[in-house]
Amino acid sequence: MAASASAAAVVPPTRIVCGIYGAGTVGGGVVIVLRRMRERFLKRGLDFVVKTIVCKNLTKERDFELDEGTTKTDDIRAIVDDDEITMVIEVMGGTDDAREVTLAALRAGKHVVSANKALLAQHLAEIEEALVENPGCRMGFEAAVAGGIPVIRSLQASFRADSVTRVAGILNGTTNFMLSAMHRDGTSYAAILREAQARGFAEADPSADVDGLDALAKLCILARLCFGVTIAPDAVPTQGIRAVTSEDFEYANMLNATIKLVGVAERRTGADGTEAVSAFLSPALALKDSTVGAVGGVDNIVVVDSENLGEVAFRGPGAGRFATANSVVSDMLAIAAEARAGPTPGAPSGPDAVFPIAASPGTVLDFDTVARFYIRLVIKDTQGVLRVVGELAERHCFSLYSVLQTPIKTRDRVAFVVTTDETRSAQVQAFAKDIRSLEWCLDDPLCMPFL
Ligand SMILES: NC(=O)c1ccc[n+]([C@@H]2O[C@H](COP(=O)([O-])OP(=O)(O)OC[C@H]3O[C@@H](n4cnc5c(N)ncnc54)[C@H](OP(=O)(O)O)[C@@H]3O)[C@@H](O)[C@H]2O)c1
Repeated sequence: MAASASAAAVVPPTRIVCGIYGAGTVGGGVVIVLRRMRERFLKRGLDFVVKTIVCKNLTKERDFELDEGTTKTDDIRAIVDDDEITMVIEVMGGTDDAREVTLAALRAGKHVVSANKALLAQHLAEIEEALVENPGCRMGFEAAVAGGIPVIRSLQASFRADSVTRVAGILNGTTNFMLSAMHRDGTSYAAILREAQARGFAEADPSADVDGLDALAKLCILARLCFGVTIAPDAVPTQGIRAVTSEDFEYANMLNATIKLVGVAERRTGADGTEAVSAFLSPALALKDSTVGAVGGVDNIVVVDSENLGEVAFRGPGAGRFATANSVVSDMLAIAAEARAGPTPGAPSGPDAVFPIAASPGTVLDFDTVARFYIRLVIKDTQGVLRVVGELAERHCFSLYSVLQTPIKTRDRVAFVVTTDETRSAQVQAFAKDIRSLEWCLDDPLCMPFL
C-alpha cells in the first residue's frame, strides 16, 4: 500500500527538447554544464535533451563529447524547422544567420536563449515584434551582457518597483585587461595589444573590442532594460581605446585616477518634466579606488543607480566558457520552470516579460552628455598656446579647471592636459575641432569624461 502510494506520487520529469546553434566555446560549455547538472535538474523535474547541434564545419575536432542521441549538422534550418524542439539556444554569433534563426524560432513558438549581444542590439525591435506576435515565447539573454554576471535577470526582476537613473560599466574584458596593464606597468598600447592577442584575450582583428563595438552592443541592451528605450548602436557617441597612451596614465595618476573603457546610459528629467536618456561609450577617468576604477584584469562591472536602492554593483567574469554557459543554462532553467508551471494570471507576457520597464511617454534621446572632461593636447611648443586654449574654452562656454604638464622632453612634440569644469560633450567636441585646425596642434585632442 505504502509502496504504491509513493509510486503514484512520482511525476515524470518534463522533457525539454533543445537545439543549439554553435558548437564553440559557449556551445560546448552549455553541453558540458547540462550534462554535469543533469541529476540536479531531473530532481527539479526538468529533463533537458539536446536533440540537435548546428555548426559550420562538421569535420572540426571538438573539445567536448556530444550526448548519445544528439545529431550534429550544418543545416541551419534543422532546429527551427523541427517541431519537437521547443527551446533554441543561439550561441553561434553573427547577425545574419543568427537573426534568421532567432526570428524563425520565436515565430514558430519556440523559446530562445541567446548569448549574442550584437544580434540583440541591432535587431531588438524585430525581436520584440516577434515576441508580441508570440506572447508565450520567452527570450533569455543573460549571457549577452557581461557574460557570467547575473545582471539581466536582476534588472528584469528586482527594479520593477524602482526607477533606474543611471547604468554604467566596464563591459569588455579584453580592453579592461589592456587598460589595467597600461595603468599598472606603464605598458604601451601596442605592446599590451600584442600580449592580449598572444594570450588569446584579443582577436587577430581586435576592432570589436578596442573600438568599443562589443561593449556598445551591451550598453544598448542595458539602456533598453533600464529605461525602456531602444537605442541604435550607431547613434551612440563611441570612442575606443586606440588613442590612449601610457602618457595618459601618467596624467591620470596625477589626478589619483585610472582610465577605463566605460559605457554609460543616464536618464535626466528636465525642468518641464520631460525625460531624456543619454548614452556614450568612451575611455573615461575613474578615481583609482572608486567602484569602477578598482576593477582590474578581464573582469566586468555593471553599476546601477536607482531611486530606491541607490548604487548597486554587479562585478565578475564577463566572458569565458563556463561563466557564459552558466548564464545560458540559468536562462534555460528559468524558462523551462516557468513553462512547466503554466501562465500566472496577470503576469507579464511577450516583450513585457523580457523588458518590464517602459519609457515614460515623450522620453527623448539626447546624446549631449554633461560631465567634467580631461582633454590631452599634443602640440609643437609655441608661445601663447595656453592663452589660445583658454580663449577657445571661453568661446565654447566652459571653464578650464586645471592644466597638467609632465616635464617636457622635446619641444617639437609636447603633450599636456587640461581638465574642465562640468560642461556638455558637444561643447568639448567643438573646442577640440577648433584646436585641431591650429597649426601647432599635432594630433586629434583626446577628450575623456570623468566618471
Ligand atoms: N566566448 C565567450 O566567452 C562569450 C561570452 C559572452 C557571449 N559570447 C557570445 O556567444 C556567442 C558564441 O561565442 P563563442 O565564443 O562560443 O564563439 P565560437 O567559439 O567562435 O563558436 C561559434 C560556433 O558557432 C558556429 N557557427 C558560427 N556561425 C555559424 C553559422 N553561420 N552557421 C552554423 N554554425 C555557425 C561555429 O561553427 P564551427 O565550429 O563549425 O566553425 C562554432 O561552433 C557569440 O555571440 C559571442 O558574442 C561569448
